[in-house]
Amino acid sequence: MPITIHPLAPHLGAEIRGLDLAQPLSDQDFETVRQAFYDHGLIVVRDHPFGDDDHIRFSQRFGELKRLKFDAYLGERRPEIFVVSNIKKDDQYIGAHDAGMFWHSDGPFLDQPHGPSALHALEVPEQDGRALGNTEFTNTAAAYDALSPEMKRRIEGMQAVNSLARRFELAQREGVQGTSAARQASGEVLAAVHPVARVHPVTGRKCLYVSDGYTTEIVGMPQDEAKALIKELTDHVVKPDFRYTHAWRVHDLVMWDNCATQHKATFDYKLPQRRLMHRTTLEG
Ligand code: OGA
Ligand code: MN
Repeated sequence: MPITIHPLAPHLGAEIRGLDLAQPLSDQDFETVRQAFYDHGLIVVRDHPFGDDDHIRFSQRFGELKRLKFDAYLGERRPEIFVVSNIKKDDQYIGAHDAGMFWHSDGPFLDQPHGPSALHALEVPEQDGRALGNTEFTNTAAAYDALSPEMKRRIEGMQAVNSLARRFELAQREGVQGTSAARQASGEVLAAVHPVARVHPVTGRKCLYVSDGYTTEIVGMPQDEAKALIKELTDHVVKPDFRYTHAWRVHDLVMWDNCATQHKATFDYKLPQRRLMHRTTLEG
């Protein structure tokens, strides 16, 4: 079956049909997939069951996989797999249960932020036949392009601080108990400075690289002015025009670009409705 590309929303996402992740992928087909990924910022592959080994093998076609530090949530058999789940075993969450409460990309608090992330749905909560726990995505390159010329000039050369502590603080404010961010942050201050308009390492497009979930300061700007600017930009980046919402089915794989997109989870389900996702994460 030939591989075909089907855009999902005006500015973001494409479904790739005819791709079975459990089967070998020729170099030529991979090139089609890779091109679609960078053209659309996000790809969806569905309809064929696959396992962790397939997930890892496919992800590695894009580059080197990261081994994340958060031991508690690494897959038992494959440490390349990061578990996102609300399921508990012996009274402990088996995965990050609060991943994606706020708009964010993965890893901006690192000097070398993550490359793409790829999330595989193993269990999807549902109610009356409708999937719960959607993930929303937005395109940060389209958002940059839509800024006024004045705003583009204003943020030219500007740098911002992105901190894991911000997510911890927001989660605490929301009253989340035992946040995984708290566990991840324990003992370590993770923060990094990146351009507000970050040039994409592959496409060369400028991407708005500030997020509600992680951006705390603009370098060299008084804090009240910085807060107002961050709010203006983070409100802009999530405007409906730039967005795609993914309603999960079991064995969907969604791979997103952590420079050209941001994402946010939806918490409209709770146990006994179970959600289990496995994520691979690429080096930036
Ligand atoms: C992630 C994440 C959101 C979700 O895995 O990086 O933010 O909807 N997940 O599971
Ligand atoms: Mn995330």
